[in-house]
Amino acid sequence: MTSAKDLAARLPKEFLFGVATAAYQIEGAAKEDGRGPSIWDAFSRMPGRVFQQHTGDVACDHYHLWEKDLDLIKSLGVGAYRFSIAWPRILPDGRGKVNDKGLDFYDRLIDGMVARGLKVYPTLYHWDLPLMLMGDGGWTARSTAEAFADYAEIVVRRLGDRMDALATINEPWCICHLSHLYGIHAPGEKSTDAFAAAVHTLNLAHGLGVQAARSVRPDLPMGTVLNAYSIYPATESGEDKAAAERAFTFHNGIYMSPVFSGAYPPDILDVFGDKMNIQDGDLEVINQPLDWWGLNYYTPWRIHADFAAGAAYPNAEATPPKDGVPVTDIGWEVDAKGLSDLLIDLYKRYDLPPVYITENGACYNDGVDNGAVPDTRRTDYLEQHFEASADAIDAGVPLKGYFLWSLMDNFEWAEGYKMRFGIVHVDYDTQVRTLKDSGKWYRELVNTHKSSF
Ligand code: NOJ
Repeated sequence: MTSAKDLAARLPKEFLFGVATAAYQIEGAAKEDGRGPSIWDAFSRMPGRVFQQHTGDVACDHYHLWEKDLDLIKSLGVGAYRFSIAWPRILPDGRGKVNDKGLDFYDRLIDGMVARGLKVYPTLYHWDLPLMLMGDGGWTARSTAEAFADYAEIVVRRLGDRMDALATINEPWCICHLSHLYGIHAPGEKSTDAFAAAVHTLNLAHGLGVQAARSVRPDLPMGTVLNAYSIYPATESGEDKAAAERAFTFHNGIYMSPVFSGAYPPDILDVFGDKMNIQDGDLEVINQPLDWWGLNYYTPWRIHADFAAGAAYPNAEATPPKDGVPVTDIGWEVDAKGLSDLLIDLYKRYDLPPVYITENGACYNDGVDNGAVPDTRRTDYLEQHFEASADAIDAGVPLKGYFLWSLMDNFEWAEGYKMRFGIVHVDYDTQVRTLKDSGKWYRELVNTHKSSF
């Protein structure tokens, strides 16, 4: 173990430390103050979709406990908070009538952050699509990208003056691959056609959202948040190497190339182009210059050429971790080098603005024991990933900060409340929050960093 002092010394003075959450995962108050239903309210009620049919109805009750939660964030010593704004609170039907009470909530929250000296890093879309938009086809319909741009403008008009940076969309891969192709997240589609359409709508929504936000506040630092995968061939064979490159295109290039290079990879157009409804001028809209981007990193992928033949994009799926490799309680391989390798690789492939790690963290389900949560495995994970972040900086990557996922245990989508990523433990019966040992370690790292300059 490296000491907090040695680790802190590897990170530049301006390095921004933060914590991250998302609206549906923590807020609860699903029917309060005029919030409309989202696709996750509906999906979580369908049998067999979410672990024990858990829902976000109450979650961490952050909608009511937000002041205490901001105090908790402040007590960690971090400089910034990344959270998301719930579209169905602002526009209960997805478009049209604005719900002022929804805007009022984020107005209070942001004022609370400013009062505590926390930088404000919101994300406009973290998966809670207003359910009404499913009537048009949800993310498969071009009109949803237009509705998103209207929503972005409304939010920035009311709240943008106090934002330090704004992200359009969190993890397009989860919204398209996981939700429309693999059927695991809402709306649970398993369709190549739906997937192809969603990819282009999502990319377009990002571009239109950036334009809409800048039309109101041209100087607002705009970015997007990607869960680009760190992809390795499972062996050194030529077949596995070629499959790994295909996987890069199918899982990363499909979002990164249009956003950062203004074009889809030719292989993507060959396989999906006729289902993507790409119109003249779309790529220019998608390819807005960005001030920053965010990387969410948890685990690397190993690609075997013979795995998943016959999938939507042949031989481009990840294999499950091999027996014996370290995994977290959700089954994801732990490999911090995947983070530094990925960052270095992406800066070679694309012309990228500065980056924040907008999410990194680990699922370990340790409980409270005598008032403490001795989650040493999470602390080890975090330490290794901070070392990897410092390695990336040493290699020349303009990495500006790190938001730990997550501030507190929360609704982990299809896994419900079973899987815990927080550095704060949440007792869902009492809403009592307990700082885990990893949270104490993070606090020490942040404060050591602060005092060493
Ligand atoms: C990424 C997502 O943005 C977040 O919502 C999720 O909880 C974490 N990964 C962990 O799976």
